[in-house]
Amino acid sequence: MFSYYGSKSKVVDLYPSPKFGKIIEPFAGSARYSLKYFDRDVILVDKYEKLIAIWLWLQKCSKNDILKLPKMKAGENTDNYNFDCPEAKWFMGFIIQGGVNAPRKTVSSVGNFGQAVEREKERIASELFKIKHWQIRHGSYSEIENTEATWFIDPPYQFGGEYYIKSNKALNFQQLGEWCKSRSGQVIVCENTKADWLPFYPMRKMQGSQYTTTEAIWSNYRHDFQAVQSSMFEPRHLTPLALDGANAPDSQQSFPADVLDGDGVLLEPPRQ
Ligand SMILES: C[S@@+](CC[C@H](N)C(=O)[O-])C[C@H]1O[C@@H](n2cnc3c(N)ncnc32)[C@H](O)[C@@H]1O
Repeated sequence: MFSYYGSKSKVVDLYPSPKFGKIIEPFAGSARYSLKYFDRDVILVDKYEKLIAIWLWLQKCSKNDILKLPKMKAGENTDNYNFDCPEAKWFMGFIIQGGVNAPRKTVSSVGNFGQAVEREKERIASELFKIKHWQIRHGSYSEIENTEATWFIDPPYQFGGEYYIKSNKALNFQQLGEWCKSRSGQVIVCENTKADWLPFYPMRKMQGSQYTTTEAIWSNYRHDFQAVQSSMFEPRHLTPLALDGANAPDSQQSFPADVLDGDGVLLEPPRQ
C-alpha cells in the first residue's frame, strides 16, 4: 500500500494468483500481494506495532485525510509540522523516503522527492476503498488459525533480513518451514536463493541498494518457476471488483537500513 523496506511492489506480478477467496499475509509489511487481489477476504498480520497502527489508521481514513497531509519539500522535517495523530506522522515518515523500514523525519533530497510524495499521497488516497473490508491484526505469524486460504508468506530473508524492526534474528527458520508446509490451502513462500529452509526455486535477479540478490519461491502448487508452465492453463480467478491497478512499482529508491534512535525511529541513512 505504501513504500516499505522489502516490499514486493516490483515483483508482485511474478507470483501465482490466489486460488482461494481468502488471502492471509502473516508477514504483512505493506502487503503488495493482497493489494493486487484486494477484493478477497484479506487477513494481514505483522509483529511491528507502528506498521499495524498505520494500517488501522489508513482503514479509517477518508481521501481527504491523506490529501490534507502537509506538503513537504526536500530536507524538511516532520517535527516542524502538526499532525492529527501519531499514525499520520508515522505514515508520512514512510512516504517521505523510499523503501525504509521505519518512519523517517526528513524528506529525501534524492531527485524531486517532494513531488513524488504528492503523487504517492494521491495514489494511496485513491486506493483506500480497497482495504476497508480487510482484517488487520498486530501479532506473530504463529498465532494465526490454520484455515483454508491462499497464504502469501514473505518473512524477513534468512540472509539479509536483519534490518527490519522485527527482524530475522527472532525467527527459527526450520520451524517456520514446517509451519509453512502445514498451512491449509495454497502456500506461496518468498525468499532469496541464499535461503536453505525450504527448496526454493529462483525467480528473478533484483538489484538492491547494496547487493544483487535473486528472488525465490516455494509453493505447494505448481508454478511458473518449475519447468512446467502451469499458469498458461490456470486463468486468474478474477472477481468483478478486481481492478488490477494496485501493482505500480515504487517510484522511490531503496535505502539501506541503519541506526535507530531511542524512539525506534531511524536516523538519516548514510548517503552513497
Ligand atoms: C519482507 S517484509 C514483508 C513485505 C511485504 N510482503 C510487502 O509487500 O510489503 C517482512 C515483515 O515481517 C514482519 N515480521 C517479522 N517477524 C514477524 C513475526 N514473527 N510475525 C509476523 N510478522 C513478522 C516484519 O515486521 C516485516 O514487516
